[in-house]
Amino acid sequence: MSELRFLGHAAFELKVGGKILLFDPWIDGNPQSPFSSPDDIGAADIILVTHDHADHGFDDAVSIAKRTAATVVAIAELADRFREESVPKVVSGNIGGTVGIGGIRISFVPAIHSCGVGVPCGFVVRHPDIALYHAGDTALFGDMGQLADEQLDIALLPIGGTFTMDIRAAAKAVERIRPKAVVPMHYGSFPSIVADAEEFRHLVGNRIPTEIMTSGGVLSFK
Ligand code: NI
Ligand code: MN
Repeated sequence: MSELRFLGHAAFELKVGGKILLFDPWIDGNPQSPFSSPDDIGAADIILVTHDHADHGFDDAVSIAKRTAATVVAIAELADRFREESVPKVVSGNIGGTVGIGGIRISFVPAIHSCGVGVPCGFVVRHPDIALYHAGDTALFGDMGQLADEQLDIALLPIGGTFTMDIRAAAKAVERIRPKAVVPMHYGSFPSIVADAEEFRHLVGNRIPTEIMTSGGVLSFK
């Protein structure tokens, strides 16, 4: 049993194996956030940050990690930045690598994007109850098809365009990754990343369900 909650933009909470994971927890300034402050996050065990752009929550991750004693997971150079901010528990890795934390395996996978520190990444999270891909910010790229081997239950993909894949590219990504379901993210939060999620669902087609989540909404997996 696991539960995925959308926190707006690219932020998600995943409850699995008795742990609470946060992805790219941008709250302060996130127009789609169900929370008004990072202090509204009551508990967290693991916080995954894909890259250092402000809309992916570095600052809020620092504050949540210090208050909840959550372990922050990030690419090596970004992990060093968290350590410089005195985050108590930080686990670093790099593209192609996997770390295990409390029965949950977290793999760093490529993302084609930019950032200030290190390189951007996506994450594949595995537990007997779920296999989930959070793409971070990325373009469509050829090797995305390798993720089909992961037999993902769910893929969280950016569709907003301008800084990431748009709905057409993201629909091609779905074709290559072949997850059991897809959740569109990273759209509608700024004027430059407006996208039509229903049109994305249409492009993906019927074989793979598109779960259009509203902020604060929850998907359950058995
Ligand atoms: Ni970015
Ligand atoms: Mn972004």
